[in-house]
Formats: sequence, C-alpha cells, structure tokens
Amino acid sequence: MGTTDEREAELRYLQQLFRMFGRTQCRGRSPLYALLSETVAEDGALLRLLLETPAQQRRPSLLFAAVNHLVRARPDHLLAAYYPIHGGRRAVDDEAPSAFRAFCAGHRDELHDLLTNRATQTNEIRRCFALRLGVRRIARHWPGPVALLEVGASAGLNLHFDSYAYRLSGQPAATADDAPVTLTTTVRGGGPADGLLGGLPRVVHRSGADLDPVDLAGDPAAGPWLEAFIWPEQVRELATLRGAMELAGRRPFPVVRANACHDTARLIAEVPGDIPVVVFTASLLSYLDAEGRARFTDQLTTAARDRRVAWLFTEAPGLVARTDVAAPSLSGPLHEVGEIYAVGTSLRSGSTRVDEVLALADPYVEWIAPARTHDDDFSWAAAEGLHPAPENHRAGRTG
Ligand SMILES: C[S@@+](CC[C@H](N)C(=O)[O-])C[C@H]1O[C@@H](n2cnc3c(N)ncnc32)[C@H](O)[C@@H]1O
Repeated sequence: MGTTDEREAELRYLQQLFRMFGRTQCRGRSPLYALLSETVAEDGALLRLLLETPAQQRRPSLLFAAVNHLVRARPDHLLAAYYPIHGGRRAVDDEAPSAFRAFCAGHRDELHDLLTNRATQTNEIRRCFALRLGVRRIARHWPGPVALLEVGASAGLNLHFDSYAYRLSGQPAATADDAPVTLTTTVRGGGPADGLLGGLPRVVHRSGADLDPVDLAGDPAAGPWLEAFIWPEQVRELATLRGAMELAGRRPFPVVRANACHDTARLIAEVPGDIPVVVFTASLLSYLDAEGRARFTDQLTTAARDRRVAWLFTEAPGLVARTDVAAPSLSGPLHEVGEIYAVGTSLRSGSTRVDEVLALADPYVEWIAPARTHDDDFSWAAAEGLHPAPENHRAGRTG
C-alpha cells in the first residue's frame, strides 16, 4: 500500500465497512458477528492485518470465514464456545471480543495465509428463490425450455434450484417432492408472492462458471471452506448447505474456470441449440470494478446478437444501476442502495431490451419483497424499513 495518507484512508474505509456490515447485515442474524464487527472496527492490529492482504480480499465475510475455519479445528478454544455450529452454547457476552482478539493474535500467520490466498466462496442457496422468480418471469416472455448458466457459480449449488423444496414463512406451501433440502424465506412489502412458487420451465442445459470454482468432488478442502461462510448461529443453514453439497456430489453439473468479463459471450454461444440462455448472477457485481461490470454487460450484448439472452441478477441495486440496465426503478431511490439486493431481469435479443426489477431482497434472501406492480419504483421500500434512507448508503465490499 502506498502513502501514509492512502493507508489512513483505507483504514477509515475498513472501519466504516465493518461497522456497516455489523449494522446492516448482522443485525437480527448474528449477534456474534454484529459485536465482532465493532471489535474489528476498533482494533488497530486486526485492521493492519487486513491491510497486508490484497484490497479485494478485505471483506468482513472473508475475515469471519477465515476465523470460523480455524475455530472449527480448535473446539477447545474459548472462542469456539460462541459458535453454535461447532456445538458452542455460550451466549454472546462482554468476553467475546477479547476471545476473538486473542484467537486472531494466536493464529495471525494462518489467518494471513487464508485471507491472502482463499477466495470469498459463499454459496447461499436461499438465493434460488430469486432464481425461481426470475426464471418464471423469463418463461412468460419467452415460453419454452431454457438453458441456465450461472456466472460466479461457486460450487454450482444454485444450478440444482428445481430440486429443492421451497416454503414461505408461515405458509404450508412447498414445492418439489423428495427434495434434499427445504429453503424458507419471509415475504415482505405486500407485493404478490405467487411468482416465488409454482411451475418452472424445463431447464435443458445447466452449467456454471467461476473465476475460482469450488471443486467439491476433487478437492477435499473445498466443502469445509464453503461451510466456513455459514454464520455461527446458523445451525439449520449448515445442515441445508450440507444437504445441497451432498446432492451436488451425487449429480454434479459442470462449473468451469472462467472470467465473467471475458468469457461470458463464449460460454453462452457454446450452449447447444437456440433456446434462451438465462445468465444468473448472485452477488457477483461487487467483485468487479466499474470497467469489469461494463465488460460483463458488453459480453451479454454481444451474445444477444445471435440468440436470446436473459441476465437474471440478484445484486446490489446501486451496482446494477451503474451498468447498462435501464429499468426505470433503478434511476429512483434504489440508485444508491448497496445493503440489500435487487432481483431483476434484463432480456436481450438483438437490439431489443426489456429490463425490470422484480423484487428487493435481503442479500441472503432471508426476506424478499416482490414488486407490487410491474412498473414498481420501490419508492415505498425505505419507509417500510427494507433499506436505510439513501444518504446512508454505500455500495461496497459487503461480500
Ligand atoms: C459471493 S460468491 C456468490 C456465489 C453464488 N453465486 C451464490 O450466490 O452463492 C461470488 C462468486 O463470484 C466469483 N467471481 C468473482 N469474480 C469473478 C469473475 N470475474 N468471473 C467469474 N466469477 C467471479 C467468486 O469466485 C465467487 O465464487
């Protein structure tokens, strides 16, 4: 890192990033990470450890995953007592920050190694609710079978989306018999929820692409690293992830090593036939810089010269708004929003484009708020507490 001023600026950015992560992503979800986000923001040694890693690696989710990964192998350490996923039973209390600091200091080299060399590799399959919603919308526009290509697919677990069962909180409705896992979400905002369940088009081709694919079959370390991104209190989510990994182990779909910015058009062209290709991205855009995002959407436009291409995104609206997607709602209050995701579709065929935001969602789709009308601008969302008022937003490395 360059000058002292640049270091100071980055330290301040990281402090804000951790505070925002604690406030917006951990609240109501992980009391431990909510507290530890503050701990990191106030701890010079931990922030300096992050400064020693590449800028794109300085993410709260990656730091907590690296610690979680190491804690799992040390169940006797005091810190492990705060992790229900590792059998811990201690409620979060004032001693948790010092246990965390001591653990990080004691395993500094291992942490540095993980933070430098391992990718942020979540595979949050609750995002398949967004995939269902979008695929149903695409099938209304282009009836018939589709191909699915997930870019930034991690281990490819979302490619199995129509094998999972789905339930809306408080409702008995579920889909898919013999499903290895059941995904549950809460519907908020008062919009119609029928697009979340119900029939799907036939998916006749599935594949994934990732800069750093998670090879569950070939790499014994891959599964445990993916599990490290499960948060300490999420015992049920851990079981869900394991169920999905088990299914993917039995019936794998290919996830090839590729770069969203350079290879997407080629991957689309390689799909046999002329059926529409649904390019699904979930939490990919924050890994690309402005130029990378432009290159990615250029790839979609190039591919759409020869066949129908639907970009189905589950991404921060503030980042989608800075691509070529022209959904009217993205020029309104959503333009600056980075803490929650917009689920939407950009249907491209030749020079024809139809862009739409279908729902807002928590980044992990613990809740989803479908559009109230097809041209909803979501101006009601801040008043309903779905995201903070625009002046408090910051689209960034939330992971
Ligand atoms: C946060 S994970 C999301 C994984 C999955 N889509 C999900 O929703 O659970 C982001 C993924 O994007 C991948 N990625 C980052 N930059 C990429 C790029 N330029 N091209 C392809 N994949 C990329 C990462 O390796 C990682 O697997």
